[in-house]
Amino acid sequence: MREVARDLLITGCKQLLTLRGGWPRRGRALGELGLIRDGALLIRDGRIAAVGPRWSLERLPAARRARRLDLGGKIVLPGFVDSHTHLLFAASRVEEYEQRIAGASYEEIAQRGGGILSSVRRLRRATPGELLQRARRWLQEFAAHGTTTLEAKSGYGLDSASELKTLRLYRQLRREQPLELVPTFLGAHVVPPEFRGRADAYIEYLARKLLPRVAAEGLAEYCDVFCDRGAFTVAQARRLLSAGRAVGLAPRIHAEQLARTGAALLAVELNAASADHLEKVSAADLRALARSSVCCTLLPGCCFHLGLRKYAPARRLIEAGAIVALATDFNPGTSPTVSMPMVLALACSQMRMTPAEAIVAATLNGAYALRRAERIGSLEVGKFADLAVFDLDDYREIPYYFGVNRCVATFKHGELIYSRLR
Ligand code: NIG
Ligand code: FE
Repeated sequence: MREVARDLLITGCKQLLTLRGGWPRRGRALGELGLIRDGALLIRDGRIAAVGPRWSLERLPAARRARRLDLGGKIVLPGFVDSHTHLLFAASRVEEYEQRIAGASYEEIAQRGGGILSSVRRLRRATPGELLQRARRWLQEFAAHGTTTLEAKSGYGLDSASELKTLRLYRQLRREQPLELVPTFLGAHVVPPEFRGRADAYIEYLARKLLPRVAAEGLAEYCDVFCDRGAFTVAQARRLLSAGRAVGLAPRIHAEQLARTGAALLAVELNAASADHLEKVSAADLRALARSSVCCTLLPGCCFHLGLRKYAPARRLIEAGAIVALATDFNPGTSPTVSMPMVLALACSQMRMTPAEAIVAATLNGAYALRRAERIGSLEVGKFADLAVFDLDDYREIPYYFGVNRCVATFKHGELIYSRLR
């Protein structure tokens, strides 16, 4: 009886996007939303116990006894799964933003010692308390924009103390607040000043010294490498990602963002969880990705913020049958946004994804990219009740009204963690 008393019946879902069906989603299936008009959800112990049209749920005895929440006609979908963020950093890089507006490029700024290295200098100096406070504020903003799970990378430390500091703060944040954080070790973001001109030696240091400590403390689930012009080569990435795999960290790769390097093919070779960015993929890369089970995670916030015209070829990837996800890439250099609704707007208007495709890419396929699709990413019986609620008339208005946040409630494991419902 006590179990039943805790049940929650949510009604008033004008459009309930269940995304029912299998995963990962490719091709035509990417746009399948499993939309129910006037839908309802029954939640028990944080999980979905029943989902369907209101009339069918209201007939269930358990639903009649449940606590009720009437949303009064909202759009309800799975909480966003943001599978690529650099959550923890010490400060914005707003001075570089102005330099780029004046004509400098991202890579020129990096070559002058700015870019990622300027975030590294600041993170090394910052106290854990300062970093925590910033991350907590941003996590609340993620929740306020409908995100319920996010990946979080290290990579602004680049020495043992600062990388471990970052990953331990992620562990603390996982324990103290409701959003699910998936930690990724990105020690190979760029070569730190201590190893200048000795990238191979830095990779060996990471592989032999730091990775084993990260793994032994259970601080990361994934190992990522920025495999690109000005960062690490395919051979270096292969070495480190293989070492990561040997200690239990699955690979994911920053691939083909600034230049076509072969990183996407490395992702296929290693059966990486994801290949992220892909602005510069070749036709052959695209075919190989499409045949693989690697998730192609597109990050249109980067092109938008950097003012670049050439977005990743989303349509060609989808039509070739690749698994496509969308994420914010929240970071101070290339994509300072936590807003998945804004990312959806960019995906639709700049990469010509349909609103339905963008929603599946930002939820179920994001969950697949984090190897959690059996638990989150769609609203089906047995999965966690992670929900985003939008005060709109139609789900297509989520990307349509760009730059406005119409998310009015977010649920994590059935608990209301953000609300401006009246
Ligand atoms: O995903 N490209 C590498 N990493 C980030 C940028 C990080 C930064 O500039 O601070 C990205 O775009
Ligand atoms: Fe990134």
